Amino acid sequence: MNTQDLIDTAHSIVAADKGLLAMDESNGTCNKRFAALGIPQDEETRRAYRELILTTPGLSKCISGVILYDETIRQQKEDGTPFLKVINDAGIIAGIKVDTGAKDMARYPGEKITEGLDGLRERLSEYSRMGARFCKWRAVIAIGNGTPNRGCIEANAQALARYAALCQEANLVPVVEPEVLMSGDHNLKRCSDTTEEVLRIVFEQLYSQRVMLEGMILKPNMVLPGLSCAEQESVDAVASATVQCLLRSVPAAVSGIAFLSGGQSAELASARLNMMNSMFKSQLPWALAFSFARAIQKPALEIWQGKKSHVSAAQEALYHRALCNQAARRGQYDAAMEAEYAEKNTSGDSEISRANTRIKL
Ligand code: 13P
Repeated sequence: MNTQDLIDTAHSIVAADKGLLAMDESNGTCNKRFAALGIPQDEETRRAYRELILTTPGLSKCISGVILYDETIRQQKEDGTPFLKVINDAGIIAGIKVDTGAKDMARYPGEKITEGLDGLRERLSEYSRMGARFCKWRAVIAIGNGTPNRGCIEANAQALARYAALCQEANLVPVVEPEVLMSGDHNLKRCSDTTEEVLRIVFEQLYSQRVMLEGMILKPNMVLPGLSCAEQESVDAVASATVQCLLRSVPAAVSGIAFLSGGQSAELASARLNMMNSMFKSQLPWALAFSFARAIQKPALEIWQGKKSHVSAAQEALYHRALCNQAARRGQYDAAMEAEYAEKNTSGDSEISRANTRIKL
C-alpha cells in the first residue's frame, strides 16, 4: 500500500469544485432505466450510451472522476478507442464499482446485505492493472417499521470496511457508500438518527479493519424526509440537518465527502448541495462534493431516447447538470442557471425541445 498515492488520489477526486459522475449502473439497472423510456436493452445500446456520456464536450472541467461498471471498463468507442483511453486523455480519474449487488439478508426480512467480497482481491488487482484508481461499494439501508436492525447495519458496515481495506492494499481509493434510502414516509429526524447510527457503525468498522481515513472518500445520502412523508422540508433545513449529522459522525481525517443523489430531482440535489456549501463550507473539515448518477444523467437519458440524432442535445443536458453541480460546490448555484438553460432549449417544436419541456428544465 502506497499511503501518499492513496491520499493524493483521494484529494484529486474532491479537488477544487469538481465531483464524480457515477455511470456504474449494473446491466440490470441500466436496462430497467432504458426500458422505462423504450430504449433497446442490449450491450451495444449500453455501450453507445456510455460513449455519449464520456465524449461530452468539456466534461473534465466539472468532473474529476467517473465510476464505471465491469462491462463498461472493457468497452470502446465506436471507432475502437478504449473508454479508458478516452477517460485518461481527458484527465479524468477512472473508478470501478466492485460490489456484486444487495441481496436479501438471511433472517432479516425486508433488509439487504451487499455481496462481493469473495475473490475481491483478485478482481481489484485486475482493475488496478487496467488503470482504475478508485473503487465503489454500496450498502443499502431501508427505513421501515422496526428497520433497520443493528444486525443488518453491522453486517453491511463490516463488508464495507473489509472492501475498503482490500482496496487500500491494492493502492485503490475506496469510495465507501452506506446509503440510507429515501423510500418511506419517515420524517427528517428519523433519517438523521438512522444516518448518524449507520455512519458511526461504519467508522467503527473502518477503524477495526485499519482503513486509512485520509485515503478514502465517504459517499453518503443527504439527510432527507422520506419520499412519501407529508412534511417535505426546506432546502435550508435539509442542508443544516445533513451537515449536523456528518459533523457528529464523520472523522475530520476523511479526505472528502461526495453525496449520492438517491432519486432526488436533479435541481433539488444541486440546490441542497449548494446550500450546504454556501452556509457551512468554511466550518467543515472535509470537502462536500457530489457523486451523482441519476441527478446528472437522467435529463440526458430522457432526451437521448437511444437516437443518434439526439446525442449532442443529450450531451448538452449532461454538461448543464455537471456545471450546476460544480457551481453548487462553490455555493454559487442558483435557479437562474436552470432558467437560462431552459430558455435556450425549450423553444421550437422539435422532439428534443418537447423532451426538455417534459423534464421541466
Ligand atoms: P444516484 O446518484 O442515482 O443515487 O446513484 C449514485 C450511486 O452511485 C448509487 O450507487
